[in-house]
This record gives sequence, C-alpha cells and structure tokens, in this order.
Amino acid sequence: MSVAVPLSLSLPPSTETVAIALDERGYDILIGPGLLDAPASWQGLPKAAAALIVTNETVAPLYLDRVRAQLAAHYGRVDKVLLPDGEQHKDWNSLNAIVDRLLATASDRKTVLVALGGGVIGDMTGFAAAIYMRGVPFVQVPTTLLAQVDSSVGGKTAINHPLGKNMLGAFYQPARVIADLDTLDTLPPRELAAGLAEIIKYGPIADADFLAWIEANLDALLARDKAALAHAVKRSCEIKAWVVGQDEREQGLRAILNFGHTFGHAIETGLGYGEWLHGEAVGCGMVMASDLSVRLGLMPADFLPRMRRLIERAGLPVVGPRLGVERYLELMRVDKKSEGGEIRFVLIEGLGKAGMRGAPDALVAQVLDAHTA
Ligand SMILES: NC(=O)c1ccc[n+]([C@@H]2O[C@H](COP(=O)([O-])OP(=O)(O)OC[C@H]3O[C@@H](n4cnc5c(N)ncnc54)[C@H](O)[C@@H]3O)[C@@H](O)[C@H]2O)c1
Ligand SMILES: [Zn+2]
Repeated sequence: MSVAVPLSLSLPPSTETVAIALDERGYDILIGPGLLDAPASWQGLPKAAAALIVTNETVAPLYLDRVRAQLAAHYGRVDKVLLPDGEQHKDWNSLNAIVDRLLATASDRKTVLVALGGGVIGDMTGFAAAIYMRGVPFVQVPTTLLAQVDSSVGGKTAINHPLGKNMLGAFYQPARVIADLDTLDTLPPRELAAGLAEIIKYGPIADADFLAWIEANLDALLARDKAALAHAVKRSCEIKAWVVGQDEREQGLRAILNFGHTFGHAIETGLGYGEWLHGEAVGCGMVMASDLSVRLGLMPADFLPRMRRLIERAGLPVVGPRLGVERYLELMRVDKKSEGGEIRFVLIEGLGKAGMRGAPDALVAQVLDAHTA
C-alpha cells in the first residue's frame, strides 16, 4: 500500500502546485525557486531500482550533479545519457541513444526516466518513456521558460522528421513536473523571450485579464523577477491544464493552444530547424494570426497593434522571413492541423476566446505580405 507523502510540509514555502487531474494518471506540477535541492520535490516518485537522467551537454554542467544527488536518495542506480544540444537533434539518433542506454544497463520496466532540460529533452525523453517496454514512468525537470509553461505540461511527446516537426510521438503523462524557477537564471535572453511567447499566447486564447497582467508585468518577467515568474508559470500551467483536461487527445479544444503555431511551424520548417527558436516563430506567428483574426472581422483593428507591441517588447521577432506565399501555404498544408488540404488556423474570436477556422488563401496571402520581409 502506498502512503501519501506530505509534500507541502517540506517544500520551500513559496512553492506553487498545479494539480493536473487526469484520473489515475493525474500528476502535480511544482513551481518555485529552490526546488532542485529540496528533498521534498523528489519524494513519493514511482519506486524502482534505477533512474536514468536524460539531459544535454549544455544543461548537464549546470544542474546534473544536483539532480543526481537527490535521485541517489531514492534509486540504487542513477544513470545518465548526455545528448547533443539543439532542435536539430530531436530525432531518431537521440531517441536511439536513450533506448540504447536503457537496454545496455538492462533497465527494467519500472525504471524512471528523468528529463532534465528544455522542451527538446522533455519531448524526447517522454517519447522514449512511452515506448520503452511499452511505457516506463518519467519525471519532467524543465529548465527553460518554454518548457515550464508549455512543453512539460499536457503529455505530448515527440521527435521531428525531416519532412515535418513533431511528426512521430505519443500522448504520455509524466509522474511529476518539477519546475525550479532558479534554473531560469542561466537561460540566455533569447530563450527567455521564446518562453514569453508561449506565456503571451495563453492571454488571447483563454484569459483577457492574464493578457493585461502580462502587459503590466512584462518588465519584471524580463528581469527574471521570481514572484512575477511564479505567477506567469502557474497561470500558464493552469490554463494549459484546463484545456488539456477537457481534451487530452486533441480532438478539438486543445488545438487552441496552437495559436500562432500554424504560421510559426511554417517559419521553422521553411528556414530549417535551428534557425529561429520555436518561441520566436510562435511570436511572429501570433502577429500573423492576430492580423488574420482582424481581417476576418473576428477582432477589432486595435487587437493587431496591441499584440504586435507586446510581442516586440518581449524581444521577439514580429516580421517573418519572406519564403514566398506559395511556400508558406505549402508548408501549412502539411501541418497536422490541416484537414484534407484545408489549412486550419487558431483565431481569436474575442479576448480570451479562440476557435479553429479556415481562411481564403487570398486573405492569408495579404497577411503574409504584411508581416514578412
Ligand atoms: N510537448 C509539447 O506540448 C510542446 C509544447 C511546446 C513546445 N514543445 C517543443 O519544445 C521544444 C522547444 O523547447 P525549448 O524552447 O525549451 O528548447 P530547448 O530544449 O532546445 O532549450 C533551449 C536551449 O536552452 C538550453 N538550456 C536549457 N535549460 C537551460 C538553462 N537552465 N540554462 C541555460 N541553458 C539552458 C538548451 O540546452 C538549449 O540550448 C520544441 O522542440 C517544441 O516542439 C513541445
Ligand atoms: Zn509552442
């Protein structure tokens, strides 16, 4: 019989918890400073003989030893896999490297995988956990803002294919998410901005007050103020959890989380992975999708400059690469959201409300013309 661990008794007092309710697969997201070194963060995880930390060359020197030390209190063996850094390595080779290590160490089906890093590490580790022996438990330790507010929540895992982003993957939930805000102190400014893009997206799609809060607190967020970050990460996780809770397998509602992503994915794929950061492409994509919402008459004209100004203040690009309208359309038709060749866009239909719609190519062409150079 398992005994509930009184997590809240010894977690740092400023810790926020977001509970993801998914029946027996529900889990907690812990958010706050000081979590990596707090033993309570690591209590009550699935029992096993071994844990395997998956991380990369950049994150390992910063945080690996501390995570390993905490895990050593619970697992007889703590192994690691060090992957090359970068979106271009979110591929079969990296996935194989994880599975190779699991098999080489004769890891059993209880082995706990620990994803230590950004969304790339989280997505790959989650996918490896989903398929190794038909599923082993995994823990997310997101160390980028983007991973803390988005990719570590909701159970989507994936790797890329040269012909399309995240084309291979599985829905698979972590046992816990440990989002230590102190890890954001080492994040390069470009990566911080990329995470802000995903935070900004939650405003227009779900919460007009949150959009106004972000506008008022953007400078504090850019200065990595812990209280501001705690609120932004918590609210973002709550909104994502609320959406995912109603539509875990992306039948409908969950797609609104992809505001700005149809244009954004086209930019990422069109330029080749690794040129623009995911969050940068999403930032620019949100400008385009905001404009399309206005041009379709769903939003008043002042919505576009409002979004563009916020995205620009966050340090994100607001002008896309001039790939050509035909190329954009072609790239967007391959997008997973397209149905029978019709491109489906997430559009804003009132502040805090989003929906999926098609749009005439001619109108999309006008948008691309206005926001690429
Ligand atoms: N599963 C989902 O629902 C979901 C949602 C959104 C995005 N994603 C995926 O997430 C990925 C993007 O994630 P990302 O933006 O975290 O990118 P990333 O994982 O590539 O991390 C960005 C960079 O920051 C480095 N880094 C990580 N933590 C650091 C730290 N604390 N200090 C210094 N450097 C650090 C990384 O090594 C990398 O170089 C994409 O592949 C995207 O498809 C998935
Ligand atoms: Zn995204």
